[in-house]
Amino acid sequence: MSKREKADSAAEARFEGLPGALLDWYGRHARSLPWRIGPGKRAEGVVPDPYRVWLAEIMLQQTTVPHAAGYFETFTRTWPTVEALAGAEDSDVMAAWAGLGYYARARNLLKCAREVTARGRWPRTEAGLRELPGIGPYTAGAVAALAFGEPSAAVDGNVDRVFSRLMATKGDWKEEKRRIAETVKAIVPSDRPGEFAEALMDLGATVCTPKRPNCLICPLRDWCAAYAEGAPDRYPIKPAKKAKPVRY
Ligand code: ADE
Repeated sequence: MSKREKADSAAEARFEGLPGALLDWYGRHARSLPWRIGPGKRAEGVVPDPYRVWLAEIMLQQTTVPHAAGYFETFTRTWPTVEALAGAEDSDVMAAWAGLGYYARARNLLKCAREVTARGRWPRTEAGLRELPGIGPYTAGAVAALAFGEPSAAVDGNVDRVFSRLMATKGDWKEEKRRIAETVKAIVPSDRPGEFAEALMDLGATVCTPKRPNCLICPLRDWCAAYAEGAPDRYPIKPAKKAKPVRY
C-alpha cells in the first residue's frame, strides 16, 4: 500500500458512517436554492444543468448566497443557456455583473462561456474543467461533483472549517488544509458526490458556523474531535494575520 492509500484508508476508517449520516441529514434539511435540483432528484434521473451550476459557483466565489440569488435569477432569465451568454455583448454582461465586484471574473465568465460554446460541450472531469478560463481547483471540483457526478471534492473555507473541527487540527494551517482536502477526497461517496458536496456546504452555512456552531443538532457530532474536546469554535486555528505596515 502506498503512503497515499494508507492515508485514504485511515480517513475512511476514522469517518466510517459519516457520509451516510450527512446525506440523511441533507435529505431532511437541504436549503432550496435556485441553482440546485434538490435532494433525491439525481437518483430519480434529473440531471443538473452544468451552466447553472457553474454560473452559481462563479458568483458565489465573491458573495453570499442571498446576494448571489438575485443576480443568478437575472442572468439565467437574460441568458438561459451557455450559448446565449456566449453570444451576449460584453458591455451587457459587465453591466449585469455590476454589484458583484471583481470584473476580471465577469470577463473570464464570458471567455469560459465562449470556449464551452466553441467546443460544443462542457468537459466533465475536474482536470478538464481546470483548463477553462476562470476555473480554479475549488470550482473544478465543485462543478465536476455537482453537475457531472464525478467523485470530486469541493473544499472551500466552509468545508475547511467543518473538517478542521472534525479532525481538531492543530498543526500548520497550510499543511492542515492539504490534509483536510485529502481526507474529504478519500470519503466522498462515489454514488452521490454532488449531494455530498451540497450537504457539506449546507452544514457549514447553517450548523457548523464560524461562531457558535450548533453542535446539539449536528449530524456529525459523533465523529467530531473538537466537540469531544469541548470547544469546537476554537477551530480552525490559523496563523495570526500579519499587521499591515502603516504608511506615513
Ligand atoms: N457556496 C459555494 N457554492 C455553493 C453552492 N452551490 N450552494 C450554496 N453555497 C455555496
